[in-house]
Amino acid sequence: MCGIFGIVGSKRKELGRTLLKGIKRLEYRGYDSVGMAALDKGKIKVKKAAGAVDKADKKLNFSELKGHIGITHSRWSTHGGVTDFNAHPHQSCDKNITIVHNGIIENYEEIKSDLIKKGHKFRSETDSEVIAHYFEEKIKQKPIKQACVDFLKEIEGTFAVLMMKNDEEKIYALKRDSPLVLGICEEYNILGSDIYAFSDRTDKAVFFDNDEFAVIEKDKYQFYDTKGKKITKKIQTFVWEQEESLKEKYPHFMIKEIMEEPRVVKRLLMSLKTDQKDNFNKFIDMIIKAEKVIFAASGTSYHAALLGVYYFHRCSDVCGIEAQALIASEFEHFANVDSNTLVIAVSQSGETMDVIEALKFAKKRKAKIASMVNVPYSSIQRMSDISLQVLAGQEICVAATKSFVNQVTLLLSIAKEFGFKINLDTLSERIEEMLAKKDEIKKIAKKIYKNKDLYVLGRGLSYPVAREVALKIKEISYIHAEGMMGGELKHGTIALIEKGTPVISLISNKDYDMLSNTKEVEARGAKIIKVTNEFDGDIKINTSNDGKFGVLAAIFGQLLTYYMALELNLPVDKPRNLAKSVTVK
Ligand code: AGP
Ligand code: GLU
Repeated sequence: MCGIFGIVGSKRKELGRTLLKGIKRLEYRGYDSVGMAALDKGKIKVKKAAGAVDKADKKLNFSELKGHIGITHSRWSTHGGVTDFNAHPHQSCDKNITIVHNGIIENYEEIKSDLIKKGHKFRSETDSEVIAHYFEEKIKQKPIKQACVDFLKEIEGTFAVLMMKNDEEKIYALKRDSPLVLGICEEYNILGSDIYAFSDRTDKAVFFDNDEFAVIEKDKYQFYDTKGKKITKKIQTFVWEQEESLKEKYPHFMIKEIMEEPRVVKRLLMSLKTDQKDNFNKFIDMIIKAEKVIFAASGTSYHAALLGVYYFHRCSDVCGIEAQALIASEFEHFANVDSNTLVIAVSQSGETMDVIEALKFAKKRKAKIASMVNVPYSSIQRMSDISLQVLAGQEICVAATKSFVNQVTLLLSIAKEFGFKINLDTLSERIEEMLAKKDEIKKIAKKIYKNKDLYVLGRGLSYPVAREVALKIKEISYIHAEGMMGGELKHGTIALIEKGTPVISLISNKDYDMLSNTKEVEARGAKIIKVTNEFDGDIKINTSNDGKFGVLAAIFGQLLTYYMALELNLPVDKPRNLAKSVTVK
C-alpha cells in the first residue's frame, strides 16, 4: 500500500506545496517514508526520508521545491526496511531517470543482477529501484516509448509507476494491477493512486487499465497499449465527497472512522465501476464456476462473511450461490474443500495468521482462492488467485468499523450481480441518516453502560449483526455481551435473563418471530432496546431493504459501544489485550 502523486504544469513556486498536499491526501495508503522529486531548469532535485509526511517535512521542508513537474510517494514498505535510502523516488545511476513506484516487481532479483553485471550501482534494497536502472539501460538503445513497451512485456508483478526524465517536461506513467488515475485540470494534469489525490481540484478522471502506459504533458496526454499503439480513453466525471475529516476534529480514531463510512462506501462503489471493474467481473466469474463458496475469516470479518452467506443464499432463483462461512481458526476442522471450491478470505489487515493458515489448507486441497482485503499487498492478497480491495482506507482504531461496512457493501455488490435486490446508490445517504442519530444512541448508552452483561438478539440477517454488535461491545466497552440467534435463546441462555438485563433486539422488516423472541425476554424482566425498521422501537432504521438493514444496525452498535466506552473512560482506540493485526495462531 502506498500513495503516488504527480503533477505536470504546476506554477513554479507552488510545486512543493502542491506535492505536499497531494501526498498528504494519500498518506492513509502508507507512511513508512515519503519523498519528492521536482524538475526545475533541467535538473531533478530529490528529497526523501523515513517517517510520516509531517515528520519528514519538518526535516526536509518539501514546500521549498520549485518547478513545473514533480512526483511524490508515501511508502508502505514491501521490499527493504523503512530507511531514508529505501524511500522513493529512486534514480538511475546517471540521475536522468527518476521514478516512484507502487507495487511489487516480482522478478526484480533477476533484473537487478543483470543490471549489476552491466555496471549499475544500486543504492536501496527495494524492488522498485530496478525500474530506474532498467530504463536507463533501455534508452541507451531505443526511444523511451519503446522501452515502455518492453517494460510491460518483461516486468513481472504489479506496478503503478511515475517516471521523470531531466530533459523532458513530461511524466511517463505505467500501470498493471496497482491503481493509477489521471486527473484532468484546466492548466495542468495530475496523476494519483486514486481520485482522492485530486478530487479537491477536478472531477474529471481517466482511469488506467492494466498494461497501459501514458505520456502526460501540461496540456495534453496520450495513452498507449502493450504494443505501443495509441489508444483513446474515456474521460469520466466522478462524484466525490469533500475533504477527509482530520483526526484533530475528533477525540478518537474510532469515531473519526465511523464518520467516514458514508464516504468510503461511495469510494468502494465507484471503484467497482472503474478501477476494480475488471477484477470484480473476474471475481463474479470465479463464483459462477465454483461448485460452492466457503468464506474464511476471523472476528468482525467473519461476521461480514456470515452476512455474505445470507445475501448469497437470497440472491434469487436465477443462480443461488452455495455458500458457507467458517471461522478461520477452525477452518481445517470443519471445511470440506476440493478443487471445485472457491475459498473467499475476508480480512481487513490481510495478515491474520488464522486466515493464512486456512488458505494454505485450502490450497493444498486445490481450491481456488479469492479474497477481500482492506490492506493491499498483504499476505492474504498475495496468496489469492484474485483479490478485491475493500477500500475503507486506513483504519487505526483496533476495532473494525468502516472496514466492516465496506466488506458488507462489497458482499452486497456481489450478491446484487446474482439477483439480490438492493439499490446501493442510496446506501451512503442511509448511513448518514444513521450517524445523525448519534445523540439518541448516546442516550441509550448512558442508560446501559453500568451493566455487567447484555444480550444482542438477531434472526436471519440480523443474527450476524447481533454477533458483531456484541463483539464491539466486548472489545471497546469491556462489557460481557452475547450476540445470539433470537430463536436459540429459549434453549438455555434465557435462564440468564433477570430483571433489568439489557437486551438489544434487531428486528428487520415484519419478522414476527423475532418480535416474539423479544417479547419472551421482556416477559422475564429484560430491559429491551428495539432496533427496527418496521415496528415501534428505540432506534428506527430508515430502510425496508434487508441488505441495508444489516449495515445500518451494525453502525448503531458501533456508535453505542463508542459512547458506552466514553462513559466508562476506556482507551477506545487501543483496547487492552488486543492488536489490530493478529499475526499469531
Ligand atoms: C475487530 O473489531 C477485531 N479487532 C477483530 O475481531 C478483527 O476483526 C479480527 O482480528 C480479524 O482481523 P482481519 O479482518 O484483519 O483479518
Ligand atoms: N515495493 C516497493 C517498496 O517496497 C513499493 C511499495 C509501495 O507500494 O509503497 O518500496
